[in-house]
Amino acid sequence: MSFRTMGIGHLLFCPRVSSRLATNLCGVALKSPVLAAAGTFGYGVELAGVVDMAALGGIVTKGLSREPMNGNPAPRLYETSAGMLNSIGLQNIGVRAFVRDKLPALQSSGTQIFANVFGYTVEDYVEVIRVLEDAGALAGYELNVSCPNTKHGGMFFSNDPELLAEVVGAARAAVRSKRPLIVKLSPNVTKIEPLAQAAVDSGADALSLVNTFVGLAIDPHTRTTRIGNGFGGLSGPAIKPIALRLVYEAAKAVKVPIIGLGGIATGIDAAEFMIAGASAVQVGTANFWDPQSPLRVARELDDFLARENVARACDLVGTLKFPGK
Ligand SMILES: Cc1cc2nc3c(=O)[nH]c(=O)nc-3n(C[C@H](O)[C@H](O)[C@H](O)COP(=O)(O)O)c2cc1C
Repeated sequence: MSFRTMGIGHLLFCPRVSSRLATNLCGVALKSPVLAAAGTFGYGVELAGVVDMAALGGIVTKGLSREPMNGNPAPRLYETSAGMLNSIGLQNIGVRAFVRDKLPALQSSGTQIFANVFGYTVEDYVEVIRVLEDAGALAGYELNVSCPNTKHGGMFFSNDPELLAEVVGAARAAVRSKRPLIVKLSPNVTKIEPLAQAAVDSGADALSLVNTFVGLAIDPHTRTTRIGNGFGGLSGPAIKPIALRLVYEAAKAVKVPIIGLGGIATGIDAAEFMIAGASAVQVGTANFWDPQSPLRVARELDDFLARENVARACDLVGTLKFPGK
């Protein structure tokens, strides 16, 4: 089924919270292992009237930077086969406005809130965390390291183990609270293992992967790019098999929990990520056609566990078998 043609009949259901789904991620109790992914659920507050926030496993906020950012020129989104290209440019109101204007309402939402943090220098990341450390209500941090380091000729933090270790180590030192530090890895690398290892060695409590794949869409009539800024990040069902492979490889390489994402749209997708090695999952692009997707995915995962006689979602983690081996 095309992602464009999915109907809205599934919007009407009563979310359930099941004991099969309850889990713990780095000391944070989650009602379910299904969270809403960064940048696809706003700051969380916008959807409070639409989604039963208290039934979610958690939400990851839109990326937060030291100063407000206007983002990239339009068009910023383009639908592709079974996916979407985006180049939002990490538009956001800045960490101080988030703490002042968004966090108070989020605090009473009844879900676990993870702040997605990004920057263009190590100092940017440290400053965002410093501001958030003084604010209440957060369950943890997710570092988006898929940004160019402007002090190192624009080389991406996520693509070089040394740059990655530097930013993760500095972020680790900036976290004075017990909040876990999750590092979100980029899939745009040849081998994920050295990057997963560098992040863990420098203080990551968990890893999330994947962020979007760099892609290009072209209008052949005008011979221009479909995205104003040129390239975009590919997400949605199209990337799921590659994301699954990367989650599997990262889970084999390190001993910390992995949060898997990339094209999850159903409970079966979520189960596959957990079997590949993910302890929790996030739902991103699916929120654009149905903001209730994380709740539906959790309900479908629960149904799958019941059908398969699996007592707890965490019993699926890392159970992949290779029949040919
Ligand atoms: C419109 C849009 C905005 C995003 N913004 C962020 C962001 O601010 N920080 C981040 O770490 N990831 C961001 N992402 C990446 C998603 O969180 C997720 O890693 C990616 O889309 C793959 O998951 P999916 O296929 O379920 O969407 C964004 C993705 C989309 C589509």
